[in-house]
Amino acid sequence: MSRTSRRELLRHGGALLAASSLPLSVVEVAYGQGSEQNFTFAYISDSHITQVKGNEFVRNWDRGLIRAVAETNLLDPKPDFIFYGGDIAQLGKPAEIDHGLEILAGLSGDVHYVMGEHDYYVDLGDYWRKQLGPDHYSFDHKGVHFVVLNSILTHEAWMHQKWETGMQRMKQMARLDNPSGQPFMVGEAQRNWLRKDLRKVKKETPIVVLSHSPLQKIYKGWNFWTDDAEQVQALLQPFGKVTVLYGHVHQIQTNQIGNISFHAAMATAWPWPYPATYRQQNSYLPKLTVEMNRADPFFERDATGWQFIDMHSGRTDVSYLLPDNANRVVAFDESVGHPVDQTDYAEAGRKSPLQHY
Ligand SMILES: [Fe+2]
Ligand SMILES: [Fe+2]
Repeated sequence: MSRTSRRELLRHGGALLAASSLPLSVVEVAYGQGSEQNFTFAYISDSHITQVKGNEFVRNWDRGLIRAVAETNLLDPKPDFIFYGGDIAQLGKPAEIDHGLEILAGLSGDVHYVMGEHDYYVDLGDYWRKQLGPDHYSFDHKGVHFVVLNSILTHEAWMHQKWETGMQRMKQMARLDNPSGQPFMVGEAQRNWLRKDLRKVKKETPIVVLSHSPLQKIYKGWNFWTDDAEQVQALLQPFGKVTVLYGHVHQIQTNQIGNISFHAAMATAWPWPYPATYRQQNSYLPKLTVEMNRADPFFERDATGWQFIDMHSGRTDVSYLLPDNANRVVAFDESVGHPVDQTDYAEAGRKSPLQHY
């Protein structure tokens, strides 16, 4: 991406940020200055539409999604399409999915959907698939191969054991720190599908994978984890430039494993803080690039934010725009081979947030 177009992108972002701040990503894929192949796409995730009763839904979560849709429609340049990253619903109820889709129907442009565990475990994804189609698929767009995976499956025996109700199973998966929960996985059938899908892709083609849970192991207690992550990574490692974009964690994370860059999206609903346990982990820990200080719990958008993702030549630079927090850019640094927070904290007179974790 050229410097000019990046400045323009940031300027547009700044204008939108002045209006409001939302968990929305814009991804730009660029092949060089003035190339007709350059394009952007938007990425909205984790709205957790929650039914109170009848037509009454939790207002704050509705508002987050409504604002994300409105701002996406104002983007200039217009994104080629939009990804929705999963967890439309809180408890997977048809009323919640329908209400979320009603809001998302306001988007001008095609939307590609990713399955979240909150959409899935009440009926094993039946209603979601009836409304939206397959939960894993791929397509090519202007020289980039996009892959969508359903990463929130788990052991068949657990999924299909005798539950009194589907909602009982849903509630096992809808909470953190639940010893009765199960780890997420892509599963053998989808890994085989992915292996076949990638056979037709050239090694130099940039690949962008969308999953709901991170395709890396971060923190099992909160299911910020995909059990067969290494097996999926092994299928992606032969390719030169791979980016995995995921939701689910409701916070900013950046990591690099081999050729794969990982970036998480903020949620439109609420942020999860970084668990203190992260600090005790010696491995798997991604680069944590921003404090989750939850400064003002009465501010509905506190610790949420939005980000531009600039994929120049298939690499990712992420500009995080955060209400009540300094903006920051995490860019792929060719000299070290992984994304690096570009903020000069000494110059800004602030401590690096990385020192806190
Ligand atoms: Fe979520
Ligand atoms: Fe989730």
